[in-house]
Amino acid sequence: MNNVEIAARVRHLIENMTLEEKAAQMVQVPCNMVSWEEALEWARRGAGSFLHVLGEKARALQKEARASRMGIPVLFGIDAVRGHALNEHATIFPTQLAMACSFDPEMVEQIGRDTACEVAADGLHWTFSPILCLGRDLRWGRVDETFGEDTYLTGELGQAIIKGYQGGDLSARDSILACAKHYIAYGEAVGGRDSCDSEVSFRKIREVFLPPFEKAVQSGCQTFMTAYGSLDGTPCTASEKLLKTILRDEMGFDGFVVTDWDNVDGLIKRQYVCETTEDASALAANAGNDMMMTTLGFYDGALKAVRSGKLKESVLDKAVEHILTVKMRLGLFENPEKGGDASQIGSPSHRETALQAARESVVLLKNDDMLPLEAGKTKKLALIGANADDLLAQYGDWTYFSHPNRRLNHPGVRPYVTLKEGLQALAGQNGFEVTYDKGCPIVNSENDAECMAAALSDAANADAVIYCVGDRFEQVGENKDRADLALSGRQTELYRQLLALHKPICVVLLSSKPLCLEEMAQSANALVVAFNGGMYAGQAIAEVLTGAVNPSGKLPVSFPRHVGQLPVYYNALPGWHGGRYEDLAAGALYSFGQGLSYTFFQLSGLKFNVKTMRCTVKISNTGKRAGASVVQIYFSDPVSSVMTPGRQLAAFKRVMLQAGESKALLFQMRREDFSLVLPDERRVTEPGRFILTASANGPDDENALHAEFRLE
Ligand code: NOJ
Repeated sequence: MNNVEIAARVRHLIENMTLEEKAAQMVQVPCNMVSWEEALEWARRGAGSFLHVLGEKARALQKEARASRMGIPVLFGIDAVRGHALNEHATIFPTQLAMACSFDPEMVEQIGRDTACEVAADGLHWTFSPILCLGRDLRWGRVDETFGEDTYLTGELGQAIIKGYQGGDLSARDSILACAKHYIAYGEAVGGRDSCDSEVSFRKIREVFLPPFEKAVQSGCQTFMTAYGSLDGTPCTASEKLLKTILRDEMGFDGFVVTDWDNVDGLIKRQYVCETTEDASALAANAGNDMMMTTLGFYDGALKAVRSGKLKESVLDKAVEHILTVKMRLGLFENPEKGGDASQIGSPSHRETALQAARESVVLLKNDDMLPLEAGKTKKLALIGANADDLLAQYGDWTYFSHPNRRLNHPGVRPYVTLKEGLQALAGQNGFEVTYDKGCPIVNSENDAECMAAALSDAANADAVIYCVGDRFEQVGENKDRADLALSGRQTELYRQLLALHKPICVVLLSSKPLCLEEMAQSANALVVAFNGGMYAGQAIAEVLTGAVNPSGKLPVSFPRHVGQLPVYYNALPGWHGGRYEDLAAGALYSFGQGLSYTFFQLSGLKFNVKTMRCTVKISNTGKRAGASVVQIYFSDPVSSVMTPGRQLAAFKRVMLQAGESKALLFQMRREDFSLVLPDERRVTEPGRFILTASANGPDDENALHAEFRLE
């Protein structure tokens, strides 16, 4: 169906809908919060959408909706944010933060594709993904859901996964809707406190937070989710400037906007800008929200508001038009069940993507010749740490263990591989024996003396120690921000005791996000970071430790030395006094873009041609084994009318090179890649001098290359 036909069909439907049916179309019903009878009643009434319902139940609700007066099919939304992971048989991919370590848009797109197949196979249509918030304050509980701290990387990977979800043809059976969330600056809440006010100006919104959302619109993303929080005192749910002026008028978004969970009620009960549901419903709809997630009271509230004149029926018409248009583009009227092929859920090929993604997500940050573990040299390996054999810790947030079903005692559906199992599987072929001890619990540190003693005794008898530290599910997620990012429990104490044994020691951080590891970074022989890498994370880490896989991950987020130093993202504006604390060394412990390999890469010949706007650079693998690296191009604008960061990522490419191989890389830049935003909110590229930096290991690498050019 073309756009004209869709518009005509939508108009015809709206003309025949009652006011009640329009209000219902704007409601999204939380299936796990209402009784089955109520859910069926909402389907009959013409609710636009349901969330958090799987398989058979979804099909039953769809049947009911199709039998209603208007017969408009419902949309089923689900948080398939790392695969269709709320379904226990689905493939569980790395979290967004872990997948971002790959700097690999193709792989991220494939994850989106595989996820779409699995969601559609379950009869569902819409994932609330990707998160395009930036993870700059690491105290925030949802950093794991972001693509990290950088605007450009987030935009590129966001675009890739949206392409994957929505496919080439939105009406195809295995294409689902993507949702760009949370609009906007949700990750920037003050103090990293989830959904508190974000104290940012619109200049900063446009410069730092908007570009990934702009790219989402450009890639055809069909839905946007309004953030819980507020911007300088205005709830995002109530901001016409955000939802109409910027999103629709300027960015040209033509899909529909859904609020986050109960945002409409939040205007009354949490943000105190409205007194009644009638007022809150009018405010949210007038501001430009089309669908209200879980606020069932919106139905009556909107009807009252129309009758009292606070809300025009034409506003409802517009919202319903947006929703129905997207439903038609999705092919929902012809094919309300989508998908169909249940064997897609957890299929071997999707699991292969998950394994590859987990491998690409491992980041090697330090290696004093300890890794890869050499066959023959290490005969006895002591693996220590609760996270090395704990599925809940390995997965982190948003799997069938967590929202919304909270099945914490679920044993987990095979196949998954923990680090313990991964190392055990590789022990034979590498000629070592592995012992495993939990050491101490991550969260609760009672009764752990015996476990600590056993771990120390095994370590004392080993040739080398792998100590797996990190955080756990209970410390991660919405409303689980942390004031302290030091290792919890007695993990540091145990580290010191292990260190005193003078064995080669490799620390593996298996966590949702960066934690403070300065002591370990200084004294351990090797340091490996593995953010929640999904079902095969354990295998991937083991393959990196033993050298079966050459690590290629780069940090999408900087590591602080101390929590008091946050935020510590690489592209902060310069400080008059340099931004250093009296009692702490300057700068991040590890910066965005850093990550080592078992081989060596050298860059040469960085050039920028101003006429063609082409940047060229050569990368050579000068080491002895094949490996992948990520060439990162940063720019700085040394003198500008508003302050700009010392350097900003403007392009990157992941490349695979055999030993001794070189490749010439070309980056096609555009003038707008070097732009800034003025105080009056206009984006411009100012003429003058620019400096490009090419690096394979973060913006400050000593081997980075620089080139200057001028734009007139
Ligand atoms: C609240 C979360 O903020 C959002 O990310 C999620 O998609 C919705 N709940 C639905 O579960």
